[in-house]
Amino acid sequence: MNSELRAGVREAYSRVALKPFEQHPFPAGAALAESLGYARELVIDHPLAADAFVGVSCLPGFVEVDSGMRVLDVGCGAGLDALAIGPRVRGIIGLDFSAEMLARASAQLDVVQAAAERMPFADACFDAALANGIFNLNPRREEIFAEMARVLRPGGRAWGAELILKGALDEEARSDASWFA
Ligand SMILES: C[S@@+](CC[C@H](N)C(=O)[O-])C[C@H]1O[C@@H](n2cnc3c(N)ncnc32)[C@H](O)[C@@H]1O
Repeated sequence: MNSELRAGVREAYSRVALKPFEQHPFPAGAALAESLGYARELVIDHPLAADAFVGVSCLPGFVEVDSGMRVLDVGCGAGLDALAIGPRVRGIIGLDFSAEMLARASAQLDVVQAAAERMPFADACFDAALANGIFNLNPRREEIFAEMARVLRPGGRAWGAELILKGALDEEARSDASWFA
């Protein structure tokens, strides 16, 4: 089940990267980014990233970074957050398991294709990390938290954005197998 879910998640986001203007089971694109608070100039300047944006919040508005920091964007997708934060830091790397998403991000960013549960980085090599919308997609999210803690230096900082339920889902919604198709 976990591997099926994982493959489904990867395919769903890869489809957005390949066909951003088609209908998807979740909101996507430049209009979503602007509605969440991303600057219009950023969106216009970076159409490859903005067209396939699928984050859940304007995370760059919350992160506190400085010009000395090495930063990791976990589940970077097409890279809009990393492009927004990049000019404010020493370096930023995006990690994602979707090659199609990374094909967009890699036009302007350093990226690594890998699973967030097993990051190919040394211990304590980043000063800060962010994750915009990755946790709910992963039943093994504790491993992602653990990996973020491992690759951050002691005292390093992390920011995450995620959707939350305000109440329990009813049985019909809980058993809807098509929610991500
Ligand atoms: C909700 S999207 C957000 C993308 C990006 N942060 C943004 O704001 O547009 C989640 C991203 O995480 C990636 N992802 C999901 N689970 C992952 C995992 N276990 N390892 C690596 N990437 C993952 C997906 O491919 C997708 O690009």
